[in-house]
Amino acid sequence: MRILFIGDIFGEPGRSAVRELLPGIRKEHRIDFVIANGENAAGGMGITPVIAQELFSAGIGVITSGNHIWKYKEIIEFLKIEPKLLRPLNYPPDVPGSGSVIVDTPKGKIGVVNVMGRTFLSGIECPFRCGLDEVNRVKEKTNIILMDIHAEATSEKVAMGWFLDGMVSAVVGTHTHVQTADERVLPGGTAYITDAGMTGPRDSVIGVKKEIIIKKFLTQVPVSFEVAKGDQIFCAVIIEVDESSGKSRGIQRLQIEVKMTGEENHGS
Ligand SMILES: [Fe+2]
Ligand SMILES: [Fe+2]
Repeated sequence: MRILFIGDIFGEPGRSAVRELLPGIRKEHRIDFVIANGENAAGGMGITPVIAQELFSAGIGVITSGNHIWKYKEIIEFLKIEPKLLRPLNYPPDVPGSGSVIVDTPKGKIGVVNVMGRTFLSGIECPFRCGLDEVNRVKEKTNIILMDIHAEATSEKVAMGWFLDGMVSAVVGTHTHVQTADERVLPGGTAYITDAGMTGPRDSVIGVKKEIIIKKFLTQVPVSFEVAKGDQIFCAVIIEVDESSGKSRGIQRLQIEVKMTGEENHGS
């Protein structure tokens, strides 16, 4: 099974890159299933039900998320009825939504588990213990399991990769929006990357208009974010999994630029 995992889709530029590139990538790389982190899909922060549907219609099978999932209140009701939109698993009990899902594909069932790290993020439940319990539950139904660990600290993501090596097909990091070059298949057969990267405006500070963030660093005065414009970057990984064992054979990074032309490239 060939799985495409798309890094944090950021605002309309990210969604536009997905619309433009996904059909071709699916064909060229013979992709069987697509997963994307959508926590920044609406205006750079959060996701709405309409935008989630738009991403499903574009060919994304499961949307994972992270700390920004709660930005729009209408997503709370949507999380209760749409199992293919995940919020991090390790929120306390009674939080709406689910942190994992099992989906049928033409090549068999795939389980997707979404956890969030705790270093420099909210002090939620332990992603390692919660993640392992969930992986064990999912493993009763399928060996093909991908975990999105949405975390700030590289060390926490690397540790999760080693912790689950041999237990899951892939551990893919998200949240920091900059693709790392450490993709590999670990000795137990788990494909790993610290960050899949961002799909959104390229000339930005992790998606936001660069001038705003530079000003914030210079002045320390809070600013309101604005999605950057201009050329886009599509960041993803392709993971090839042996369907019977659930072990990965390979992981490949993708970074594709989408050049904007004429008026689209201007504006602030
Ligand atoms: Fe993000
Ligand atoms: Fe995040």
